[in-house]
Amino acid sequence: TQSTSEVARMKNLILIEMGQFRIEPWYFSPYPQEYSYVPVLFICEFCLCFYANKMQYTRHRTKCTLQHPPGNEIYRKDDLSFFEIDGRRQRMYCRNLCLLSKCFLDHKTLFYDVDPFLFYILTLRDERGCHIIGYFSKEKESAENYNLACILTLPQYQRMGYGRVLMQFSYELSKAEGKVGSPEKPLSDLGLLSYRTFWSEVLVDLLINYDGEISIDELSQLTCFTVQDIMHALFSLDAIRYYHGQHCIVLSQRVMEAHERFSQKKLRKVDPSCLKWTPKV
Ligand code: ACO
Ligand code: ZN
Repeated sequence: TQSTSEVARMKNLILIEMGQFRIEPWYFSPYPQEYSYVPVLFICEFCLCFYANKMQYTRHRTKCTLQHPPGNEIYRKDDLSFFEIDGRRQRMYCRNLCLLSKCFLDHKTLFYDVDPFLFYILTLRDERGCHIIGYFSKEKESAENYNLACILTLPQYQRMGYGRVLMQFSYELSKAEGKVGSPEKPLSDLGLLSYRTFWSEVLVDLLINYDGEISIDELSQLTCFTVQDIMHALFSLDAIRYYHGQHCIVLSQRVMEAHERFSQKKLRKVDPSCLKWTPKV
């Protein structure tokens, strides 16, 4: 027999339809009971409202006028945009976003209280509107100096470099605030993998292109990564060596080759000059 908590955690959605995609959820998400176990849950890709059948969804689509997330567009470059949404002002949208993202996050408790958070939505624009790719949330005030609470790339867009775009953007906001930041712990397996890759790529790129000596503290100031996250990344690259009585950073042939392969990938990057944002005081 299963305990109630195990039953409560059992996956309750079979399939989600969102825009042109059908997605299979990974984990339990606390959608209202009457939406559980329907063959397909229809989600409006613009307002994130959900419907148990196609007819109700189609009726909604004739009325829904939203063509982008309901917030301020604070970044635009080519077809990528970021929208900033205040959890307190757009409670419904942010709650719907949390419900959707819980389908792909197992280790987080879901926050019904979205008020203390800002949500940064990454979208891809075409003639029909700005389609959500993923997002991250951020506490308005973080006592621990977290610069990101929760990050998600929707499964149909994963492994295409958008996670990097989200992570880079979170550090661009930290740079604008003038403080170092780190993602909220614990990280999921995918979260840890992706952050480790991201931190390593940024640091190796910086080190290769830097003339002269640089300390860990200076790396931290340049990137807004915490010293701890920098050390984590450098250890994962096996780049910390002890020579002549002091620690040095050594990039091995393997690391250099991996960096070369990475540089050749045509990955999207955040262009800081396209960010129209100042931190709220
Ligand atoms: N297997 C192996 N390596 C992976 C995988 C995977 N499934 N996913 C990401 N990585 C690593 C790879 O090195 C990858 O680079 P590569 O594709 O060039 O090899 C790198 O991370 C980054 O990949 P991106 O394409 O930039 O990242 P993606 O858009 O897939 O998003 C994310 C990463 C956000 C973690 C995504 O996997 C996701 O949404 N997962 C579900 C939700 C989740 O676990 N979020 C993190 C929770 S922790 C927190 O919120 C603080
Ligand atoms: Zn809608």
